[in-house]
Amino acid sequence: MYALILAALIAAAPPQQSGPQGIPPTGTEIELGRKLFFEPLLSVDGTVSCASCHNPSKGWADGLPLAVGINGQVGTRHSPTIINASYSPLMFWDGRTVAPITQALLPLSNPIEMGRQSEDDVVRKLRLLPEYVSDFARVYGVDTTSLSPVTGVRLARAIAAFETTIVSFNAPIDRRLDGDVTALTPDAEIGFQLFRQANCMSCHTPPLFTDNLMHNNGMEYAGKLQVSDLGRAGILPQNQRTAQNIRAFKTPHLREIHRTAPYNHAGNFADLDRVILHYATGGARYDDTFDRFIDPRVRAIRTLGWTAEQRGYLRTFILESFKGSPSP
Ligand code: HEC
Ligand code: HEC
Repeated sequence: MYALILAALIAAAPPQQSGPQGIPPTGTEIELGRKLFFEPLLSVDGTVSCASCHNPSKGWADGLPLAVGINGQVGTRHSPTIINASYSPLMFWDGRTVAPITQALLPLSNPIEMGRQSEDDVVRKLRLLPEYVSDFARVYGVDTTSLSPVTGVRLARAIAAFETTIVSFNAPIDRRLDGDVTALTPDAEIGFQLFRQANCMSCHTPPLFTDNLMHNNGMEYAGKLQVSDLGRAGILPQNQRTAQNIRAFKTPHLREIHRTAPYNHAGNFADLDRVILHYATGGARYDDTFDRFIDPRVRAIRTLGWTAEQRGYLRTFILESFKGSPSP
């Protein structure tokens, strides 16, 4: 049954795969997207590309607590991996962008990330580069309205098309959930039972290992001396802020998690030991107090009273079991 659900998910066009006209990406479009993704000329000073923060050798994240953009400016959130991002209906830690194609253009004009004045600024730059003009012409032809093959919509589409290729499935956890009880190593299997028992999968829901929703799991409160990021509530008007959205962040999926430390929206949990300790204490801060809006499922984990040995099994499970093959 699990294998069927997973196959259906993978086969269904990820949201980004149906572009504005619902056309699936072609090989040449993906190649153009790849080139653009690694292109520092997209940034205002020619130093930062998408890959600076979503680096394939760092699990398509950057290995840093907080994102660093042009002129070494430090952002306010951690760069998430973009592995399987094509399958995410809501983008960013607070889920503020619905349309994945629109998302691709946002970092360009973010003053800290790539620093362009606007999307048009990037389009103008690309139109001056003969190589890109001919690349865009080859993939899309000339746009009859703008009389140039390079447009903002096409730029976004090409990058989004490339993103659909950055995927990870086919990990030991998939074989385990499909009923192969020998799929995990013995230690990881013990960890998996703890993972089940703690109800981790109610938010890290298979087969994506995220429910694509925003929750407060206490990490903002527990991880910082000064609580500052309102998460989902931060993008809503005052009168719509509730216990469900205050300090709520998008559940990260767990695939390729062994490659994407540090963790959470603020990148201030350095490793999995820190993450697991957080859950084992029910989401407590160093002074054993809790975010008053914390999700009750996270609070409940404390009652399991995990020992250091049990936390170790859980760590082994998480590190070993979400490695896809081939890995993106
Ligand atoms: C300076 C670092 C930086 C650069 C450059 C950058 N990003 Fe990001 N990216 C981030 C951060 C930080 C977030 C999370 C922002 C938030 O949640 O507020 C993010 C989020 C994303 C997401 C959403 C993932 C998800 O699951 O929610 C995608 C997709 C993405 N970036 C793609 C790109 C593309 C494409 C480019 C190039 C056009 C790019 N990024 C350039 C740092 C960067
Ligand atoms: C109520 C929903 C919920 C439950 C239950 C839950 N998580 Fe999470 N998890 C989240 C959210 C939301 C985040 C991100 C929080 C943030 O960024 O501040 C997260 C973050 C993580 C991360 C860091 C991932 C990354 O890429 O940054 C790991 C690992 C993790 N959880 C594992 C677990 C484990 C193991 C359990 C069970 C012991 C569990 N989670 C239970 C919602 C949940």
